[in-house]
Amino acid sequence: MLELSVEQFRSLSQIIYQKLGLYFDDRKLYFLKTRVSRRMAILGLDDPKDYLFKIGYGDPQGQEMQELANLITTNETYMFREYEQLQAFANYCVPEVLSAKQAIGDRSLRVWSAGSSSGEEAYTLAMIIQEIFPQAEYWDCMIVATDIDENMLRRVRTARYGNRSIKDVPEEYRRKYLIEDCGEYVVRSRTACLVRTQHLNLSDRIAMRSMGGFDFIFCRNVLIYFDELSRRAVVDHFYNALNPGGYLFLGHSESVGRVTTAFKLKQFESHLVYMKE
Ligand SMILES: C[S@@+](CC[C@H](N)C(=O)[O-])C[C@H]1O[C@@H](n2cnc3c(N)ncnc32)[C@H](O)[C@@H]1O
Repeated sequence: MLELSVEQFRSLSQIIYQKLGLYFDDRKLYFLKTRVSRRMAILGLDDPKDYLFKIGYGDPQGQEMQELANLITTNETYMFREYEQLQAFANYCVPEVLSAKQAIGDRSLRVWSAGSSSGEEAYTLAMIIQEIFPQAEYWDCMIVATDIDENMLRRVRTARYGNRSIKDVPEEYRRKYLIEDCGEYVVRSRTACLVRTQHLNLSDRIAMRSMGGFDFIFCRNVLIYFDELSRRAVVDHFYNALNPGGYLFLGHSESVGRVTTAFKLKQFESHLVYMKE
């Protein structure tokens, strides 16, 4: 087994923090060690010092950081996750945003699933929008699924899922929006076509500045891996990327109250959502 000293682990986690915003404390030493040893075996390196040098100074295009990111991110996801929050989206937020847009003759709708993993969240949002707003077909409607992990984005593009991913899809939605194929489920093309993928590192300030014009941003179960400082930077970018009247949805445990007061906090039944005024 690879010998990674505590100092080497800390240097590595510092580089990861700077590049990805993800914070690995000392309890994650074993986890990082197993991932790094996989990369070192592929690269034919024996000494962790050489790996630290490579990722710190010999990776100008960020390819090695990308390979490592693919191994260290947590990709757990499934459709209709945190169902009650989605009800707030469907019952209150979408109707409110749509009527404001209809009033000014704007027929576009932009949704961003940030940290989309394999895409279950993005397709869930597409199904909900088509269900509650059938005219979406005649609108310029797009859901942008972004992630740092390219393997996940490839899976988004297949729009093909196993039983675990669809376990919480209501039966009616399953029949309407998914097709069973060889024991798996494929999102029907009229729904899948609303989703686009884009590779994006939430800690890349330049890339984040290029994102804008969104009515809804979902970033759930992503920022738990960030520390307060990197989380604040991401949430500030989300604020700028939202249209006035737009909403940010975070995971249950990821309050932005502590990181920004820019958003107006709104409560729909038991759910708190963040609105840009
Ligand atoms: C646990 S999944 C969340 C999936 C989905 N949002 C959900 O709630 O089910 C977290 C995702 O965030 C992505 N991620 C982590 N750090 C990131 C970063 N710096 N930039 C972009 N995506 C990142 C991971 O690759 C992973 O796919």
